[in-house]
Amino acid sequence: MNDFTRLLTAQVAADARTLPARALARLSAANPASRAGTISELRAVAARRVPRVVFDYVDGGAGDEITLRRNQTALRDIELRPRVLVDVSKVVTATTALSEPIALPLIAAPMGLAGLLNPAGEVAIARAMSEARSISILSVMASCPVEEVAAAAPGPLWFQMYLWRDRGLVRDMLARVRAAGVNVLVVTVDVPCAGNRDRDRKNGFTVPPRITARALADGIVHPRWSYDFVRNPRISWGNLPGDSAASAASLSTRTNQQFDPAATWPDLTWFRENWPGRLVIKGVLDPADARRAVELGAEAVVVSNHGGRQLDGARATISALPAVSEAVGDAAEVYLDGGIRRGADIAKAVALGARACLAGRALAYGLGAAGQPGVSRAVEILGSELRTVLALTGCPQVSDLSPAWVRQP
Ligand SMILES: Cc1cc2nc3c(=O)[nH]c(=O)nc-3n(C[C@H](O)[C@H](O)[C@H](O)COP(=O)(O)O)c2cc1C
Repeated sequence: MNDFTRLLTAQVAADARTLPARALARLSAANPASRAGTISELRAVAARRVPRVVFDYVDGGAGDEITLRRNQTALRDIELRPRVLVDVSKVVTATTALSEPIALPLIAAPMGLAGLLNPAGEVAIARAMSEARSISILSVMASCPVEEVAAAAPGPLWFQMYLWRDRGLVRDMLARVRAAGVNVLVVTVDVPCAGNRDRDRKNGFTVPPRITARALADGIVHPRWSYDFVRNPRISWGNLPGDSAASAASLSTRTNQQFDPAATWPDLTWFRENWPGRLVIKGVLDPADARRAVELGAEAVVVSNHGGRQLDGARATISALPAVSEAVGDAAEVYLDGGIRRGADIAKAVALGARACLAGRALAYGLGAAGQPGVSRAVEILGSELRTVLALTGCPQVSDLSPAWVRQP
């Protein structure tokens, strides 16, 4: 237990005089996400339930958050072109991703430090996805170690790595991932250095959290989160060696220490040669980059701008998707992430060439709102919206969507 946890424990114990622990436990166990009908409502619950510094870490983007917003507005601006008098009594959302059958084209995006939202962290996400019969991608920067997540959820688990400077560390990590039974490696290539996360800078966000008067005050006004947190703190990275987070530092400092700004295409070849399983490259927007990744052995690419958390001003992923999809053709699968908040967003992405979408924040809001049931609720919302959209569009089979079903502005 570190100083931060000790202080919070003491404070929660002091609060227990006015708010008995049993009541806190009851509050903690209740599922405040069950009444949320949209992802935006889940976001509002999460905003109330977790401290501001944690919410901003998840919700925020880089710089002026132009790209963060653009991902969503570009999706909304696409028109659907419905056909009528089609038999939609049976709607089918099932598809496959790298031969893995999934119940709907929605995969959990890798997210570092999900355990800050709820101590169940990535275990909760993987279990919820497994129950929904889909895939979860575990980040190397996750709060929960790969062995724990793989053991906790029976469903398919993919693992996401970064291009670190220390190849020995990467090699050890890949061996652990393989031993945990993971067959698909996702290499994220859009982080040569940390993006400028202004909210994190202003909030003084560090890993592990630094004890400040503000952090304590934040903990006190979010007693349910603090109660969960004190019982099972997940304040650092579960996959990295213990000394990687020995002292508090900002996320950008950590990123810039570990990530290799000199990494180029031959480094991707290194991954191909050192990873016997399937390989996915995440973080491309340019068709030529996508083609090159496939030529070097990637079996899928993720059109992504890291949810607007890296290069502010980058184009919206949905705008980049058609050209990438055309460039890659049948040589690899294409996925999209960034701004998925509605079932209609998934339908539009699939129509424009994505085999499936990755969702980051939509699931994170669910996790922050109510742990695993909250993640399940997020998936349920997106799935049910998608089914309604398919029926109303007159395209009951998700895999039948094509560019003919949409009109881009
Ligand atoms: C809190 C948070 C942490 C993230 N951590 C990672 C990570 O460790 N590795 C990675 O490849 N992407 C990471 N991402 C980006 C997501 O994988 C994904 O690209 C992005 O969230 C998609 O946008 P959306 O949140 O609008 O769905 C993170 C995103 C969030 C919100």
